[in-house]
Amino acid sequence: MSQVSVVDHPVVAHHLTLLRDERTRPSEFRAAVRRLAMLIGVYATADLKTRSVSIQTPITETEGACLDVSISIVPILRAGLGMVDPLLDLLPDASVWHLGLYRNEETAEPVGYYDKLPCNGASDVALVLDPMLATGGSIDLVVRRLQEWGVRDIRVLSIIASQVGIDRVARDFPDVKLHVGVIDPSLNEQSYIVPGLGDAGDRIFDTP
Ligand code: PRP
Ligand code: URA
Repeated sequence: MSQVSVVDHPVVAHHLTLLRDERTRPSEFRAAVRRLAMLIGVYATADLKTRSVSIQTPITETEGACLDVSISIVPILRAGLGMVDPLLDLLPDASVWHLGLYRNEETAEPVGYYDKLPCNGASDVALVLDPMLATGGSIDLVVRRLQEWGVRDIRVLSIIASQVGIDRVARDFPDVKLHVGVIDPSLNEQSYIVPGLGDAGDRIFDTP
């Protein structure tokens, strides 16, 4: 059974509205992506394993908690780059592994162009960052690659996901957890999310 969580939160709804608005300038767009990534990241990491530790405060001895898993942050180039900094703020000891894909404009099929995952030493948890999950083709490729690397706990963080994309990931990868800001109903003929926000990479990097 797939695990899809929508971060149903008024602050998410506020920043999503800014992202969707075609008048939003790239600097504001990037800031909204960062804030949304932080909010989704908090929910996506809510059940990470911890171990207890004893510490001394200036007042007394007490028990605290430390994260007890190795974590990889995996941004999908380009648009996923916009989500890295807030996740690293939350998880400063995580490693960052980049995977580069673009969608063929005619077929909407993903084409890989960059992959620097090491041959071994898979982390316990991988947090895949991509603001848009449309057909699900890019996530399909990335999840297969991370499984081949050996990651067991794969979590995909997307700001907007289409219902079609969610259904595809849920069907093909029932163990992958999806954490999204919102689910949009459909795709258009060019496989863009409707209502969506347009091309996330172009809006982050101000490219035509
Ligand atoms: C976008 C987006 C995802 C992908 C989603 O990337 O950031 O990676 O499309 O679509 P899918 O679910 O149908 O595969 P794009 O190919 O536009 O590349 P970019 O990030 O370099 O702009
Ligand atoms: N990639 C985007 O950036 N936007 C979409 O709507 C679909 C894929």
